[in-house]
Amino acid sequence: MELKMIKLTKQFGNFTAVDHMNLTMTNGVYGLLGVNGAGKTTLMRMICTLLQPTSGKILCNGKDITKMGADYRKLLGYLPQDFGFYPEFTVKDYLLYIAALKGIRPVVAKKRVKELISKVGLSKAANKKMKKLSGGMKRRAGIAQAMLNDPKILILDEPTAGLDPNERIRFRNLISELSEDRLVLLSTHIVSDVEYIANEIWLMKDGRLLHQGTSDELIHSMTENVWKCYANKSDVPTLMKRYKISNIKSEPHGVELRIISKEKPFPDAVMEEANLEDVFLYYFGEKAGADDAVI
Ligand SMILES: Nc1ncnc2c1ncn2[C@@H]1O[C@H](COP(=O)(O)OP(=O)(O)OP(=O)(O)O)[C@@H](O)[C@H]1O
Ligand SMILES: [Mg+2]
Repeated sequence: MELKMIKLTKQFGNFTAVDHMNLTMTNGVYGLLGVNGAGKTTLMRMICTLLQPTSGKILCNGKDITKMGADYRKLLGYLPQDFGFYPEFTVKDYLLYIAALKGIRPVVAKKRVKELISKVGLSKAANKKMKKLSGGMKRRAGIAQAMLNDPKILILDEPTAGLDPNERIRFRNLISELSEDRLVLLSTHIVSDVEYIANEIWLMKDGRLLHQGTSDELIHSMTENVWKCYANKSDVPTLMKRYKISNIKSEPHGVELRIISKEKPFPDAVMEEANLEDVFLYYFGEKAGADDAVI
């Protein structure tokens, strides 16, 4: 499976939400990271043919998706950011209903729903009403509905929003399991959601791709930009205006700071190993707001 985006662009009036994106995806997990308004949902909705690009195109195994019609939609599974569910339906009935909407034959649907309920860990809740599920359980039901047609392209828009740390871990394991033999694109604001499971991470800002690579490559790109240093507590507000600071830890005689900076911030600063959080802060973080900022 190969999806190729060529100069993909979406404008809303004069505003460009997705700006000439060129990307190629094959099987595996792709993590789309970006802050609010980056264009993640817009990009995903174009991949799902729910939005028409203003210009550019998407090719699926070399064919333009707008010309593939139902053949393309058969390959797709989508969990929207604000996915609607039917509160009075039980999990099982909800999935059977969505299966019917997708045109899956009842005999096949019954078997598939059972398998998926077990796969996403909802067996005990199968007969619970959707409105009684926790946030994490609802998301898992959402993933199950996206998987009903055994899609080769699975698009998950912020599937971890509102999940607690345990749910996040369960979710990561589930995605890894589901990604065998298919292409998964998931968006998130949270680095740890994709750090270990994504084959490739895309950093998106203002409709453009800032950086793409494996998490190791992204971390490597940050080498020599992360520093540990010590300062007085009273200097912190000034330093926050000057630098991107990824961590502040109180110490008995002051504070220990983790600073992202191309230049050595202080003579006694010590270079630290970078992590993906640092990469995120480097590309997306805001300083507290000074004109004489270093990065
Ligand atoms: N239908 C629309 N009409 C006008 N502007 C839109 C429309 N849909 C999205 N936008 C704008 O396009 C930009 C990108 O929105 P999008 O929802 O794709 O961002 P996102 O990265 O998914 O953000 P979030 O993390 O908040 O979900 C935003 O500035 C948004 O206001
Ligand atoms: Mg979004």
